[in-house]
Amino acid sequence: MPADLAETLAAIAAEGLSATERGQVASYIPELAKVSPAHFGIAVITADGTEHVAGDADLPFSIQSVSKVFALVEALDSHGDAVWARVGREPSGSAFNSIVQLEAEGGRPRNPFINAGAIAVTDLIAAAHEDRAGSGAILRRVRALAGDDSINVDGAVAYSEAATGFRNAGLANFMKGFGVITGPVASTLDVYFHQCAIAMSCRQLARAGRFLAHAGRCPSSGKQIVSPERARRINALMLTCGHYDASGEFAFQVGLPAKSGVGGGILAVAPGKASIAVWSPGLSPQGNSLLGTRALEQLSRAMGWNVFQP
Ligand code: DON
Repeated sequence: MPADLAETLAAIAAEGLSATERGQVASYIPELAKVSPAHFGIAVITADGTEHVAGDADLPFSIQSVSKVFALVEALDSHGDAVWARVGREPSGSAFNSIVQLEAEGGRPRNPFINAGAIAVTDLIAAAHEDRAGSGAILRRVRALAGDDSINVDGAVAYSEAATGFRNAGLANFMKGFGVITGPVASTLDVYFHQCAIAMSCRQLARAGRFLAHAGRCPSSGKQIVSPERARRINALMLTCGHYDASGEFAFQVGLPAKSGVGGGILAVAPGKASIAVWSPGLSPQGNSLLGTRALEQLSRAMGWNVFQP
């Protein structure tokens, strides 16, 4: 029998706030290194719209790579299946910022969630807007999904990443050489750094992810955000590629589509049941939230939420 959700979340948050081994906060983006590893928050919104939260669920954090899901929605909306000419749908088995496969594979990134793939997706969005207005389009999309216009880009994080984003610049220039990036590299990167620097709380993130749990439809607004088929496919990509070279392990332990970010956030989807967001800034060596992953493992087991055994 599934456990009581409120009790389960309270227990998970108590453990998440007090754990001594918390992983390492991302330091390659200097601004993220300033975040205390002591935070832990979780928000779960069930199909009937009830919001269950525990810990630091209302504190905003840098969503980083979780933004790649929203950028993909935006690019699919504006470019349809043309997105797949630029980026594949296979797990990479490599680190999120790796360049190793790009040369052998003609500059086409394996999937939209590794950095190279996300930059290629962002390039499509950037090309559809004047100057650097593409990041505004992504922010508007996130605000609309969350139903919250107070969501913003953290300018200090965007600046910090732009000042140190040499690997991303390398990936973007390499793809430009292959013709996979068509716009000016500097403006594509600018949009990418701004989308990664969007700050959201667990509650806001769980709200924004609800359409993925309900066949593309946001139950609170009643709006069909994407078709049921597109929602299913985005979930498939989150399951197979959402945790980079730890995606197999995540599917094995948690069994839910989910996307992580180096800010320590994870958005997870229990189809038909719930949208879940968790945040703990300390990361595993693969760059995924250590305690966030553990929390999702506990939650999915306690509630019986698993796409392989629904
Ligand atoms: O491009 C980067 O390196 C970061 N803005 C995002 C990487 C990230 O979040 C990887 N996720 N776990």
